[in-house]
Amino acid sequence: MRPQRLIRPAPAKLRRHWQLAPDTVFLNHGSFGACPKPILQRQAELRAAMEAEPVQFLWRRYEERLEPVRQELARFLGAKSRDLVFVTNATAGINAVLRSLPLRRGDEILTTSLDYNACRNVLVEVARQSGAKLVVAEMPFPLHSAQEITSAILSRVTRRTRIALIDHVTSNTALVFPIKQIIRELEARGVATLVDGAHAPGMLPLNLQELRPAYYTANLHKWVCAPKGAAFLWVREDRQSDVQPAVISHGNNRPRPGFTAFQDRFDWAGTFDPTAWLCVGSALQFMGALLPGGWRALYQRNHDLVVTARQLLCERLKVEPPCPARLLGSLATLPLPERFQRVAASGKIDQEQLRLYDKFGIEVPLSRFGSPSRRWFRISAQIYNSPAEYEYLAAALEQLAD
Ligand SMILES: Cc1ncc(COP(=O)(O)O)c(C=O)c1O
Repeated sequence: MRPQRLIRPAPAKLRRHWQLAPDTVFLNHGSFGACPKPILQRQAELRAAMEAEPVQFLWRRYEERLEPVRQELARFLGAKSRDLVFVTNATAGINAVLRSLPLRRGDEILTTSLDYNACRNVLVEVARQSGAKLVVAEMPFPLHSAQEITSAILSRVTRRTRIALIDHVTSNTALVFPIKQIIRELEARGVATLVDGAHAPGMLPLNLQELRPAYYTANLHKWVCAPKGAAFLWVREDRQSDVQPAVISHGNNRPRPGFTAFQDRFDWAGTFDPTAWLCVGSALQFMGALLPGGWRALYQRNHDLVVTARQLLCERLKVEPPCPARLLGSLATLPLPERFQRVAASGKIDQEQLRLYDKFGIEVPLSRFGSPSRRWFRISAQIYNSPAEYEYLAAALEQLAD
């Protein structure tokens, strides 16, 4: 039978606020986010002001623009602004913390087998330089409960464990870890936690004062939809004095009245374009006003959509969901059906991922992981997505396999 020509679904109503290419079905908000038009417009205005008066903008009036944004972000995160700095991305936050740790030979650094490759590389390098041992907790996946996650992590803690790098939301596997419980249990064993929250802000409610890990870093360009280059690092007060930014600049010997030494070190990382940071307040307001129920309604709507979409795809493709819906935020990972499993890996990007884009206009990531290695795909649900888009993905995957 000849494959039917698929009709691309009409985009969701609110997609009008995004400048995503009209002929695409964008189901990968998770990788790099997507910034709404009014925020990009605001960034363009800020850039114009910066280029009109470079010295006034970047030097004389820098703090008076930056500080109100930091305070707004702090309110959103349930944090004190004195504990909060901007960084350009989560990788920079992870580097700052891990490369500042006073580790010694014999110390242990703990991570999980579901961590993010770039962050794992930082751990490997820090371990190599310090002589510390990198311990990887093997995580089950598929899994049935949050307890399996906590147990797998705690089973690898020893008297020598100094720091644990724990994802709040994992990347390939799209699991929301029971982060509060993990932090409490690790703290109770004397282990500091560095939370990689790359996906969390804007996907899940956050209260950092309540969570109180040693360190928390996350992106704002993903689910808060700020421009690329906006991320933050929060450090608990008792841990701040040792933390140096990945790039050291003026702040180490130029204290500014009204700012913490931690903020002095991070607020300036050499000449750069700070407009992404300065747009964070606008992004928080814009996204928080899209639904009558504000941010809470947005979290719930995106979660509900991803759960519905996952169920639909599981039924259509005849695959099993790898975790309970309560371990999802607004991302979900699913196994590709058996007929896809025989294809060998090739190239930087999965060949069938490229075909989905080139033939059907669908942006969705395919990946391989696990032992033995299996093929998976991950869907995102943002306010501009609609259920029809996941039906279209199901039909495209069916045609791809023919
Ligand atoms: C779990 C996790 N950590 C860290 C990162 C790194 O983010 P960035 O490339 O913005 O630094 C990502 C990116 O997707 C991620 O998924």
